Amino acid sequence: MMRTRPLKVALLGCGVVGSEVARIMTTHAEDLAARIGAPVELAGVAVRRPSKVREGIDPALVTTDATALLKRGDIDVAIEVIGGIEPARALIHTAFEHGISVVSANKALLAQDGAALHAAADAAGLDLYYEAAVAGAIPLVRPMRESLAGDKINRVMGIVNGTTNFILDKMDSTGAGYQEALDEATALGYAEADPTADVEGYDAAAKAAILAGIAFHTRARLDDVYREGMTEVSAADFASAKRMGCTIKLLAILERAADGQSVTARVHPAMIPLSHPLASVREAYNAVFVEAEAAGRLMFYGPGAGGAPTASAVLGDLVAVCRNKLAEATGPGESAYTQLPVSTMGDVVTRYHISLDVADKPGVLAQVATTFAEHGVSIDTVRQQGKDGEASLVVVTHRAHDAALSGTVEALRKLDTVRGVASIMRVEGE
Ligand code: HSE
Repeated sequence: MMRTRPLKVALLGCGVVGSEVARIMTTHAEDLAARIGAPVELAGVAVRRPSKVREGIDPALVTTDATALLKRGDIDVAIEVIGGIEPARALIHTAFEHGISVVSANKALLAQDGAALHAAADAAGLDLYYEAAVAGAIPLVRPMRESLAGDKINRVMGIVNGTTNFILDKMDSTGAGYQEALDEATALGYAEADPTADVEGYDAAAKAAILAGIAFHTRARLDDVYREGMTEVSAADFASAKRMGCTIKLLAILERAADGQSVTARVHPAMIPLSHPLASVREAYNAVFVEAEAAGRLMFYGPGAGGAPTASAVLGDLVAVCRNKLAEATGPGESAYTQLPVSTMGDVVTRYHISLDVADKPGVLAQVATTFAEHGVSIDTVRQQGKDGEASLVVVTHRAHDAALSGTVEALRKLDTVRGVASIMRVEGE
């Protein structure tokens, strides 16, 4: 039975994603109504610049007063696609105070304040859905929260930032340096004028925090995620990666410790073997590789950004939240019952690729090898290339604690024969 009274939606923000949400709500209105069991009506659109022409949106719906829109008494669901911390946070709390469920695409806010937002939603008996906050169109949050709710996720490794994947893919395929590849990404509209959030890994770290919470049923915040950007990755690193049968990706990696008592969450560039499924993720695509105890290895792949792809995820949430409203129920809330602590980077265990510039004379290799041994880091392979009394030394280690590797590098820097540490990169996915 179709309910005739529509569910009313307030759209907070009408930029690249918001305008696509409005367009799809209008063009797919009949299908959405049939799937939900009631029509959904765009009842108001809160924007910063009301004078901007918004094709397909009735100007009478546009307001600059988002708070008044939420308080007017007839809104069932708010879609927050403003981004950033404020005013998004205050508006979401206002929505909950007024009986309004929320669909949000706001990774920064969820990574910083997810626990408080979930608590407010729970206290009000309302929904907070956020599929679009991580990896755009890719169904990931709901599969992890719901489809895998009966399993145990041990590891998540993903490419969750399209801009940096585009840059690294260009560097890999053309031999370009970082700046050249960034310039191309900017010219093509993949990178923003200020690319800091992407290239320094902040965007990926926010998504990593959200995924860590879901994967391990604990609370992880942006500050818990170790973060290294990819601005230092060089053409020489790619050449070295190729020699090892690897490529380089900016990865978000979330792991349950071997003893199950803690988790780690990190974002950094890493070498991965070309045989790993994530190595074939090209251009601005995202992909997330999930390892669960019973399910085994799952890979989620698709467009991680862009107006229409992100709107697809928002609309999926809108349908779910509207169905819940009609059923007078709510979907799953936050699941943080394990309260597993997030360990520091020093506790991470992985392999490393270290590139050193050294003097080319007797005993240098022995000195370098001794330094690794003194810190309990076992060497897997060494490659040396000499020229004019200098040599470039590439050491690949077996698995070691990150703290032990940091100690090794600190000691290597103090050796007279080591002219410099050209690069340190983790090796993952083997
Ligand atoms: N800037 C992000 C990316 C999309 O490049 O993937 C939004 O999170």
